[in-house]
Amino acid sequence: MAKGKVVYVCSECGHETSGWLGRCPACGAWNSFSRSIEKADNKSLNQGRRGSWLSESNDCSDQPVVHDLSKIITTETIRESTGIYELDRVLGGGLVQGSLTLLGGYPGIGKSTLALQILNAFPAEDVLYVSGEESAEQLRMRAIRLGMEHKSIPLLTATSFQQVEKTLLERRPRIAVIDSIQTVYSDDLPSAPGSVAQVREAGMGFLRIAKGTGITIIMTGHVTKEGTLAGPRILEHMVDTVLNFEGEKDSPFRLLRAAKNRFYATDEVGIFEMTEKGLKSIHQAAGLFLSSMPEHVPGSAVTAILEGSRPILIEVQALTVASGYGTPVRMTQGLDRARLITLLAVAEKKTGIDMSALDIYVNVTGGIRVNGTSSDLAILAAIISSVRDKPLHLDAVVLGEVGLTGEIRGVSRIADHLTEAVRAGWKRFVVPASAQSRLRRFEKEIQDVRVYYVSELSESMDLLFSDEN
Ligand code: TYD
Ligand code: MG
Repeated sequence: MAKGKVVYVCSECGHETSGWLGRCPACGAWNSFSRSIEKADNKSLNQGRRGSWLSESNDCSDQPVVHDLSKIITTETIRESTGIYELDRVLGGGLVQGSLTLLGGYPGIGKSTLALQILNAFPAEDVLYVSGEESAEQLRMRAIRLGMEHKSIPLLTATSFQQVEKTLLERRPRIAVIDSIQTVYSDDLPSAPGSVAQVREAGMGFLRIAKGTGITIIMTGHVTKEGTLAGPRILEHMVDTVLNFEGEKDSPFRLLRAAKNRFYATDEVGIFEMTEKGLKSIHQAAGLFLSSMPEHVPGSAVTAILEGSRPILIEVQALTVASGYGTPVRMTQGLDRARLITLLAVAEKKTGIDMSALDIYVNVTGGIRVNGTSSDLAILAAIISSVRDKPLHLDAVVLGEVGLTGEIRGVSRIADHLTEAVRAGWKRFVVPASAQSRLRRFEKEIQDVRVYYVSELSESMDLLFSDEN
């Protein structure tokens, strides 16, 4: 390996220093510096590394050209459908030609599976699968599992960036998968494969290839325990699109979110199921994340949240037990602990339950994370149901934000939530009183539904636990 200068690089933002620092002066991250070795050829340090993709594609002697934005001729962005409904939906119709996409997620979540399924939609001469992680036999086994045993897919098992680049430039596929970016290393850099410097160099290299040749490139990337993409954040700045694969280990459902997209909105979510024949798109997601139709048991409430533009139903489960000595336990899964603590304070004030005497555990089932406030009322309903050891009497979907004074506040797009819930078989709803005018049409058009309007926390609890409904 070539000898080079030792530098320290921040794994969060790519900032470089000559000595180790506990805290990055550029992005403020703690303990993020790792040792890395620069290219021996020092001339390339600034031109070659930072701007390597520019300096190689443009002749350095060229005069810089300033364009007039209004005179630039554009062609319609060319999108190619991947044949995978939910992925196309997240991408806004398909992959944009010549774009660079980073597909991130935990090991085993399904990145390689999705990547192979994408290539299935294209003719063999248009694709290239580059694998640095798995052997050809392993990939063949996956292809057989996916029902692609007769599909011809050119495969390159290599980890050297120079080899991959050479193959891409020779074959000129329309779409290429690099699985994974962390395994690719450049022979020019003395640092180890997977190091910050290597990942950045490879990322830059693929960006240069994608923009220079129009090859659409998808790179997979592992996520660290903290949930960030391993390697420098700089990779996220560099690429056009960052797709994150999420899901629980023991649940077959996977969510695909665009954390960044230069060609489309980022609020759409793709929902997949991992089956024994690969990832299947799920169109009807409404009732999916309910464990089943929840029984009448204490500590459970059903609510709806928006995932992208789609409402889905979720179950909130709560368990409350008498607290021992010391600070009572507040455990959450799938919701913000600080939000729970606020809600408990409101509930204590409004219902008189002594929350400080209780250890409280709250889970959202199905591996979903609740971010907004529309499930506040359902969370408190589940908790109070557990405290009283009494199931909710009213078999309803509960929606509403709980304000600090105990008032029940509105939820956006409430009619959509209810329509989706009706589709999944629900007939009763507890919603904020402020939604009454917006739901008039819904109530008129849909038979057999009953909507209860509430404006205050204790009133809502009386309704949910009363035998009269
Ligand atoms: P994989 O795509 O290898 O994940 P990643 O590339 O993100 O590490 O997926 C691995 C998991 O998916 C593995 O646990 C087996 C499971 N799987 C299925 O359940 N069905 C399938 O058809 C395939 C190909 C994988
Ligand atoms: Mg993989």
